[in-house]
Amino acid sequence: MADDSHPHIDAHTGKTTTGHEWDGIRELNTPLPRWWLWTFYACILWSFGYWIVYPAWPLINGATPGLFGWHSRAAVVEDIKGLETLRGPADAKLEKASLEDIEKTPELLTIARSQGSALFGNNCAPCHGAGGGGSKGYPNLNSDRWLWGGTLAQIQTTITHGARWDADPATHTSLMPSFGKDGILKAAEIRATANFVRSLSGLPTEKDADLALGKKTFADNCAACHGDEGKGNKEMGAPNLTTKVWLYGNSLDDITQRIVVGGGGQMPAWGAKLSGEQIKALTVFVHTLGGGQ
Ligand code: HEC
Ligand code: HEC
Repeated sequence: MADDSHPHIDAHTGKTTTGHEWDGIRELNTPLPRWWLWTFYACILWSFGYWIVYPAWPLINGATPGLFGWHSRAAVVEDIKGLETLRGPADAKLEKASLEDIEKTPELLTIARSQGSALFGNNCAPCHGAGGGGSKGYPNLNSDRWLWGGTLAQIQTTITHGARWDADPATHTSLMPSFGKDGILKAAEIRATANFVRSLSGLPTEKDADLALGKKTFADNCAACHGDEGKGNKEMGAPNLTTKVWLYGNSLDDITQRIVVGGGGQMPAWGAKLSGEQIKALTVFVHTLGGGQ
C-alpha cells in the first residue's frame, strides 16, 4: 500500500505531489508559470469587453448587436460603396466612349486594359490561357488569325454572344459538317483533302498523296466556308488554313480527324453575365493583346 499522507514529497525530485495516485504513480504538483496565468486572466477579461462592444451572443433572430453596432455585412457594403466611388467615374467614361475612342485616349486605354486584364484572368484564362495564348480547341487571342474576326466590333460581338452557345439567340452558329462520320466523303477523298490542306500552308505531304483529287474535293466541299484558296471566312467562323497558327493542330492525323468529325468549339456568351463596360474593357484588352485588326 502506498503512503497516503498529504502533502507527500516525491523522493526523486523533492517536489510535492498533488495527492492523486493511480496504481502507485503519483502526480507531481507543477503549477502553471505566473506569466502564463496572468495572460490567461487578461484574455478572459478582454473577452468580457469584446462580448459587450461587438456582436457576440446568438439569439433566436440574429445576435446581440454590441455597443459599437458593428456588422460584418455592413462592413462589406461599405467596402463595395468605396470601390464604386473609386470606379464609378472610370466606368462612366468607358460607357460613354466608343471602342475606337477608348483605344485612342491613353487615359481610357489604361483603365480599359487594367479592368480588362483582371476580368480576363477571372473569366477567360481557364480556357484561353493566362496570356490569351490558347490551347488545342481554344483559340490563341494573340495571333492575327481570327475565326470570327479581329476588329473591335467583331471581338465585342463574339464576347457578348459567344459561339454555338444555345442560350443566346444571337450566338455564332455555323458548324463544319462531319464529312467522315456522316459518309459525305470516302476515306480516299478525306486522305487526299487532308494532304491538300497541308500543302496550302507549305507543309510536306505524303509521297503518294493524290493532290489533284484533294484540290477538287476541297473546291466542291470546303471552299464554300474556307474560301477557294483556303483563306477562311469570318462570317462562317471558318479559319484560314494557309497560316502557321492552328486551332486543332496541323499533323495529317489532326486534319484528317477534323474532316471526319467536323463540328466546332463552344464559347460562352457573356452579354448576360457582364456589364456593357466590362465587355468593352475586355474587347479592348483582347484587341490590344497583339492580334487586333
Ligand atoms: C469555356 C471555355 C471558354 C471561356 C471561359 C471563354 N472562351 Fe472564348 N472561346 C472559347 C472557344 C472554344 C472559342 C472558339 C470558338 C470556335 O471554335 O468558334 C472561343 C473564341 C473566342 C474568341 C474569338 C476568337 C476568334 O478567333 O475569332 C474571342 C475573342 C474570345 N473567345 C474571347 C473570350 C473572352 C474575352 C472570354 C472571357 C470573358 C472568353 N473568351 C471565355 C472558349 C472559351
Ligand atoms: C459549313 C462550313 C464549313 C465547311 C463546309 C467546312 N468547314 Fe472546316 N471548319 C469550319 C469551321 C467553322 C471551323 C472551325 C471549327 C471550330 O471553331 O472549332 C473549321 C475548321 C477546320 C479545320 C481546323 C483548322 C484548325 O485550325 O485546326 C480544318 C483542317 C478544316 N476545317 C478543314 C476543312 C475541310 C478539308 C473541309 C472540306 C472537306 C471543310 N473544312 C469544310 C467550317 C467549315
